[in-house]
Amino acid sequence: MAISKADFDYIVQLAQSQAAIVLEPGKEYLVENRLTGLAEQEGFGTLAKFIGKLRSETTINGLHHKSIDALTTNETSFFRDFHPFESLRKHLLPRLIEQRAEARQLTVWSAACSTGQEPYSLAMLLAEHFPQLRDWKITILATDLSPTVLKVAGAGHYSQFEVNRGLPAAYLVKYFTKQGDRWHIKPDLKKNIQFRAMNLIQPWPILPPFDLVFIRNVMIYFDVDTKKMILKRIRNCLLPHGHLFLGTAETTINLDPEYQPVMFDKTVAYNLRPPGGLWAG
Ligand SMILES: C[S@@+](CC[C@H](N)C(=O)[O-])C[C@H]1O[C@@H](n2cnc3c(N)ncnc32)[C@H](O)[C@@H]1O
Repeated sequence: MAISKADFDYIVQLAQSQAAIVLEPGKEYLVENRLTGLAEQEGFGTLAKFIGKLRSETTINGLHHKSIDALTTNETSFFRDFHPFESLRKHLLPRLIEQRAEARQLTVWSAACSTGQEPYSLAMLLAEHFPQLRDWKITILATDLSPTVLKVAGAGHYSQFEVNRGLPAAYLVKYFTKQGDRWHIKPDLKKNIQFRAMNLIQPWPILPPFDLVFIRNVMIYFDVDTKKMILKRIRNCLLPHGHLFLGTAETTINLDPEYQPVMFDKTVAYNLRPPGGLWAG
């Protein structure tokens, strides 16, 4: 049965207030698709009964959180969009490694990492092309709101279909082992990655200063004020010479003038405008 207007409006408000996810009118089918399975799993005969239960609660509880989790869009792939990783390999990382030669430390954040393909792609890139980092302190923080995707990310087990999307065959052989019909990331690649639950619109935990922040294909779901708030918070944890990577359909332009776009071949990254124009790139 189609979702009622009142139930849809309630879910729109829930997704917006708890995760900043904007569900436009016309997305009723999406809500129906994503919540019907959960309603059944939770023992409610119909979606209407399930949403009725959510609406009857006076506080946000586990059922609401499960609903928000189910409403997230988790599309991702290894080396998604390819060019940002090429820019890192060819331009940014060689320079960053020189700049950090004394500290011998690199800290990267994959925010809204979904099922982990992005942080593992970053780890593979570093392992494959920058063996000199082996005795550096490398930290890749990988966060997401959804416990369901974080569980997959932490396990690092992927289907044939998933590894067919974006992963070079040589990397599959080198960094994965096959167990049954799943491909498992080798433990060595996982050792520098920390997976943590984090909702970008809630107060942030104390974060380390980052050399690179990947926050791709998540702000696309947020309204302008939320994007501005998140970009401002990232500013406070981006190191000088640090770079921000957004999804191909995303930008800081008209949202935060403190960032400047930096073009690397086919990729735009962003860094902070230096106070008084003191450093370049
Ligand atoms: C489309 S995926 C993007 C994955 C990856 N960054 C990429 O570009 O391939 C969006 C992810 O954002 C997460 N997300 C949505 N709202 C969020 C929020 N308020 N805080 C943190 N993560 C959120 C979702 O759970 C989902 O895994």
